[in-house]
Amino acid sequence: MTQSKLIPLLSAAALLLASSPLSAMAADGATLYKTKTCSACHGKDGKTPLMPNYPKVAGQNSAYALQQMKDIKSGARNNGQTASMKGVMHLVTDEEMQVLSDYLATLTP
Ligand code: HEC
Repeated sequence: MTQSKLIPLLSAAALLLASSPLSAMAADGATLYKTKTCSACHGKDGKTPLMPNYPKVAGQNSAYALQQMKDIKSGARNNGQTASMKGVMHLVTDEEMQVLSDYLATLTP
């Protein structure tokens, strides 16, 4: 490879690297859990919910938690207390929901 071809390649790599701190943050479930306000209702540890009728989410199966989050966001799940959580779900993307549900599954119930 000639040097003139290498330089644009290197700057493309530098751009990718420059944007990586953001995506590294988005990939951190513990950070998302705090910044997306989840901890306010479900507790810092995922098992001390704000209200007795709010669920503990620590140790929940990832696939189940992900489905519930999607259903709450879309409105498919709309029972008793769902409305309060639906209000914050515009803050999370599908990718972030996946990261969050994987994170919840790692917590001790
Ligand atoms: C304003 C309070 C509130 C916030 C903020 C909130 N939730 Fe919830 N969440 C609830 C409530 C209440 C329910 C149960 C809804 C119901 O009664 O159907 C719930 C349900 C869930 C469930 C399904 C639990 C189950 O056993 O079915 C998961 C998983 C969950 N929340 C994760 C999260 C995550 C992750 C976040 C952050 C993006 C979050 N929640 C933010 C209140 C909240």
